[in-house]
Amino acid sequence: MISALELDRARIDKLFSLSDKFKRGAVKPLDRSSSVALAFFEPSTRTFSSFEMAAMKLGLSVTSMRSDKDSSMAKGETFADTVRMLSGYADLIVIRSRFDGSARFASEVSGKAIINAGDGQNEHPTQALIDMYTIKEHFGKADNLTYAIVADLRHSRTTNSLLYMLNNFRPKAVHIISPPQLKPLEQVTSRLKYECEWSDSLAGVPGDVDVLYVNRLQKERFQDEMEYNSVKGSYYIDIRVAERMPDDSIILDPLPRVDELDRAIDGTDKAKYFVQAANGVPIRQAIMYNLLSERQ
Ligand code: NCD
Repeated sequence: MISALELDRARIDKLFSLSDKFKRGAVKPLDRSSSVALAFFEPSTRTFSSFEMAAMKLGLSVTSMRSDKDSSMAKGETFADTVRMLSGYADLIVIRSRFDGSARFASEVSGKAIINAGDGQNEHPTQALIDMYTIKEHFGKADNLTYAIVADLRHSRTTNSLLYMLNNFRPKAVHIISPPQLKPLEQVTSRLKYECEWSDSLAGVPGDVDVLYVNRLQKERFQDEMEYNSVKGSYYIDIRVAERMPDDSIILDPLPRVDELDRAIDGTDKAKYFVQAANGVPIRQAIMYNLLSERQ
């Protein structure tokens, strides 16, 4: 599970139906006991906790590290050797790192299944599965919907993976709302099988939007603070933006939210970001179960 580009519709549908079953408690246990290593070298609340919770619910043995300071990488051990060690202890390795391509690299040095839990500003495929699953749960479908994806698509791994994931879903329209310097990279848009419409203002959110997807500006990935300050706050989704959206539309945010989303939206039916976060557990149960049962 390295890139959303490698997921096809059959696999996505399978993971969604497994996730439904985990929610209903209707999945038979794995045949033999298995183990997972959670190797997180960048801060995380939701992704770490939901992977850990999902692993415990699956009955997996879990070992974890939450930063490179926890590991012998602090003594100078390489990332490759760290992954090799974990491969000797666990059947699955979940990796979060600040370096683009680290999950792919780990899969080259490990014989075990690798799950990319966010690699730098590259990808976050399990988050995109959660996003699409939440959309499908709400609308009963994920095809033929109008999307507006807001703010920092230049540095955001969640929006990269979401854009790739949408290749499988025939969207009605995809609108990108961002300042020019935060548009997605050409290397991302060139891989999309659908057209995106770009606008630099929230006025570009279409009147028939179904899914408004917003993410914080990825402050830690900006080259300079001045550039961050020049866009900070300019794509704030306040309650008036939410009120202009159609009744059945939804707002998603992979979270954490910092300064992009009005807390007054939280109590409305459009706010689906906490449901989205909670879906992290059944989706990650489905992902790990699927990978382990393929290997058993
Ligand atoms: C995201 C991430 O880490 O990329 N968070 C998450 O995993 N839910 C989004 C972010 O940090 O903005």
